[in-house]
Amino acid sequence: MIEYKRHLVTAALPYANGPVHIGHLAGNFLPADIYARYLRAKKEDVKFICGTDEHGVPITIRAMKEGVSPQDIVDKYYTIIHESLQTMGISFDIFSRTSKEIHHKTSQDFFKKLYDDGLFEERESEQFYDAEKNLFLADRYITGTCPNCANPSAYGDQCEKCGTALSPDELIDPKSALSNSPLVKKNTTHWYLPLQNYEPWLKQWIIEDHKDWKNNVYGQCKSWIDNGLHPRAMTRDSNWGVKVPLPNAEGKVLYVWFDAPIGYISATKELTAQWSDYWCKEDTKLVHFLGKDNIVFHCIIFPCMLKAHGGFVLPENVPANEFLNIEGEKVSTSRNWAVWVNEYVQDFPDMQDAMRYVLTANAPETKDNDFTWKDFQDRNNSELVAIFGNFVNRAFVLMHKLCGGKVPAYHIESKDAKDDALYEKIVHTKTHIGNCIENYKFREGLFAVIDLAREGNKYLQDKEPWKKGDDQIAIDNCIHLCLQLCANLAIYCNPFLPFTAKKLIKMMKVVDRMLEWENGGSLKLLKQGYTLNPPELLFRKIEDEEIAAQIEKLHKHQIVPITASQSDVNKPSADLPTQTEEKDVAAIKPTIAFEDFDKIDLRVGTIIAAEKVEKADKLLKLTIDLGMEQRTVVSGIAMHYTPEEVVGLQVTLVANLAPRKMRGIESNGMILMAENNEGKLIFINPLAEAMNGCAVK
Ligand code: 2FM
Ligand code: ZN
Repeated sequence: MIEYKRHLVTAALPYANGPVHIGHLAGNFLPADIYARYLRAKKEDVKFICGTDEHGVPITIRAMKEGVSPQDIVDKYYTIIHESLQTMGISFDIFSRTSKEIHHKTSQDFFKKLYDDGLFEERESEQFYDAEKNLFLADRYITGTCPNCANPSAYGDQCEKCGTALSPDELIDPKSALSNSPLVKKNTTHWYLPLQNYEPWLKQWIIEDHKDWKNNVYGQCKSWIDNGLHPRAMTRDSNWGVKVPLPNAEGKVLYVWFDAPIGYISATKELTAQWSDYWCKEDTKLVHFLGKDNIVFHCIIFPCMLKAHGGFVLPENVPANEFLNIEGEKVSTSRNWAVWVNEYVQDFPDMQDAMRYVLTANAPETKDNDFTWKDFQDRNNSELVAIFGNFVNRAFVLMHKLCGGKVPAYHIESKDAKDDALYEKIVHTKTHIGNCIENYKFREGLFAVIDLAREGNKYLQDKEPWKKGDDQIAIDNCIHLCLQLCANLAIYCNPFLPFTAKKLIKMMKVVDRMLEWENGGSLKLLKQGYTLNPPELLFRKIEDEEIAAQIEKLHKHQIVPITASQSDVNKPSADLPTQTEEKDVAAIKPTIAFEDFDKIDLRVGTIIAAEKVEKADKLLKLTIDLGMEQRTVVSGIAMHYTPEEVVGLQVTLVANLAPRKMRGIESNGMILMAENNEGKLIFINPLAEAMNGCAVK
């Protein structure tokens, strides 16, 4: 066991081609921030590193479409992203950019070392080229006629009409989706890292030695390794990016996933002259925070690069999160189905902790989770306001009313079992939260804070100091303990809700240092006789109108995609030259027993009627013939299909799902759908006609 002396905490670098949304916050920025704040409170040596990822095809394409330079795009979004994350209290030690000179130099040196050590394979291949735009095109930017159904607007990776997976070579008359001009094939040379050479080492390092990683992370890594690794191109043809530092490499840049993770190293260099202590000494604990679409890059490709280079520490853990959906649907930047952080901080000024709370409480730690505005309101009003805020407010108001605005004495000889139990809880909560954070269980840690406040309310209710008349000793003891509990709550909530912790220390007139973790569990944080400030409003109630306005905004601003180039540019697959080289990786959920699967009753049915649901852009009301009965099912497919398009289709239905009311209509079941690269929903239906009502097994 290594005794770690310092910590390096990273949050995945967001692409600088759009603002960040709350999925980014929940997925990596918040957990990383909670972790870093906790370590700082423990007086550990920690550096929290991030910045913007400013290279890659999506940025050049966005620039092209907007008629500006890629530099203009990244400058604009660097500022927006940086400001919104700062406002949310994400406490980076540095928020750098991969367009900086220091980063270009660091990644070029890294590449050159691998090249000089003979670790790349140089290969020539033919790829589709848009002569008008002067670009080699990724599959999703190629369109043509589908060989299967003759759809004239199929993409180089898939035909949306018939759902067939395609490669650009299969398209009839392939054209560039960017310029609409015919494509030519051109030879191009790239440098590949033979990942397969690192397989034995990866098997040992991950499969054997890191069984402690989260199931979703470990499972994804194992399946990549088990499926066999292949050489992967580490360079691309482009004029935007880090230039390949070799002679005769004009027009070639480093693959964005080669340079971006090196961004963690270059940002640390920029931050401190002692950067190599953090990156090269074995007693550094490196932890990468990220979303599930980044797992393979941080657990396999970057570690292989680090291993190939030598001299760097490897991540001790990669506690990746799953995805956060919004109102039951996957976030889509292209469809503008997202809650943007820069807009949130404008719409809800000074309510950063409310969002931090809800996103942590609903963090997609083990599975995809859902954010709904209604839940945001409920959690804020019934947990933050009604439990935490209420307890602190009552303690302060009672102190002013019953104890002259001063911290009363604690008469130890008069304490009772309830006082002892509360003290025990305060002490135990400290250990519990610490363990949770150290094991990346941020939700559980946060719930422990709220539980403690809940306990405080219960204690006050049991003790009823307002009924104690002239029994000042009983009053003093109760209020004294409640105030010490408030001080402890400030320490415990600080990693999660730093704005609240700040308000609390202001109310208690204590210095920031009180928030250090070692002070947690003490009943001596506030001195007897000390005058405290009047209570401040810790949290405010969120009204129904505010929530209705957000829901309306979400629906009103959503866009229905029409072209390939509007696809989700924040997905790494957008950066890849060929689809076969990379696909979005959906993490496999934890294993279930056959009996669990067997509980789901899947049936084939035919849609015999369909109509739009009034005042619901996304819903269709479907009547499904299951042979033995007809069902009404409300399905969120109206943005993808008209009622006329779906009537007559056979579908697969989850037939024993509990009924659910949607817009006043009872829905009896759920239709299985898949999502293609453009976010369009595709029916999962039998290839040949099946009997209605037959079971799907
Ligand atoms: O998926 C993304 O948003 C990437 N820009 C993450 C990069 S993380 C790291 F490698 F820099
Ligand atoms: Zn087709």
